[in-house]
Amino acid sequence: MTAVSAGLVSMPGIRSLPKAEVHVHLEGAIELADLLEAAAHTGVALPGPAATLFDTSTHEPSARPSGATPLSAFLRFLDWEGSLFSTPQQLARLAYRFAARQSASGISYTDVIVNPAHWASWRRRPAAFLDALGAGFADAAADGLCAVGICASILRTASSAEAEELVTTLLGERPQGLVGVSVDGDERVSGRTAPRFADAFGLARRGGLRRTVHAGESSGPEGVWDALTLLHAERIDHGVRAVEDPRLVDRLAADGVPVGVCPTSNIALGLYARLDEHPVDALARDGVTVTVNTDDPAALGTRIETEWLLCAQAFGWDDGRVVGLARDSFRASFAPDGVREEGLEALARRADAMGAGERER
Ligand code: ADE
Ligand code: ZN
Repeated sequence: MTAVSAGLVSMPGIRSLPKAEVHVHLEGAIELADLLEAAAHTGVALPGPAATLFDTSTHEPSARPSGATPLSAFLRFLDWEGSLFSTPQQLARLAYRFAARQSASGISYTDVIVNPAHWASWRRRPAAFLDALGAGFADAAADGLCAVGICASILRTASSAEAEELVTTLLGERPQGLVGVSVDGDERVSGRTAPRFADAFGLARRGGLRRTVHAGESSGPEGVWDALTLLHAERIDHGVRAVEDPRLVDRLAADGVPVGVCPTSNIALGLYARLDEHPVDALARDGVTVTVNTDDPAALGTRIETEWLLCAQAFGWDDGRVVGLARDSFRASFAPDGVREEGLEALARRADAMGAGERER
């Protein structure tokens, strides 16, 4: 199928544009059919009705402690998901299917966030866990599908000793496909966490791992400052609440620290009521390198081409801006140099073919 006649700012146009995704969780990308199949296979009960499994508000009351935030309820659902997968073969299959879906959206490189804490059978064997996923990603890449780098994530509620142990293990065993470390989870529940993870992130940095941190989602600008100054984050996942502090916006722009924005996720979790209230465009206009991503695509019912098209429509992004977004997605990624350069070249060829090359900005 050709996308030429539809124009670039359209679903097929955006899909056909070579791009990277830098903020997506494997746990939030597992398709409903795969979850139902795995639950039936292992005999694990569903937490809610099959047809509305991704809507945690329809789950059993026992899965909804009072005072839970939508994010903490969602994170508990990810624990349930992770409990379904116990063999390396299952993990490799999940990884392969993830890479294939990324390819179907025109994504040629992905930094995927994976948090071993969500996977009950694996949380004490994080290197074997990531290695099994890495095998599936390697098979996918060998078949010409999306290349995937793994960012191993530390849950916000972990202790500093647990965080250091995870990083030390990963540096010792170097599972295939590992490119970096991350922090995710709910800062409203855990409170300020960056001081607790500074040593683990220092180890990761010295060991050559890249660093991305969720901040400015369940925390305000102070969480982003902490991620920059204490964790030496090279990229901020979400980062949208940085917009509340002009000095911080200037700092992100001046240092070229990209943000991995996920508009639908922010709206689903109640940060903004509507897309036209979302700061993604304001941040970009203030010079911050912005990428647009899915976060948890299966659970949120979205895809990267949907996120880009919604933003283009809400903020009047033209062909040139969309090509610029694709260019920044590769530049913000932790892809190996060769993969990034190849992606940028493929993007330039596609943009030229669409007549959007010279107008890129
Ligand atoms: N893990 C999966 N999705 C997340 C989100 N939106 N925020 C923090 N941790 C997450
Ligand atoms: Zn996220």
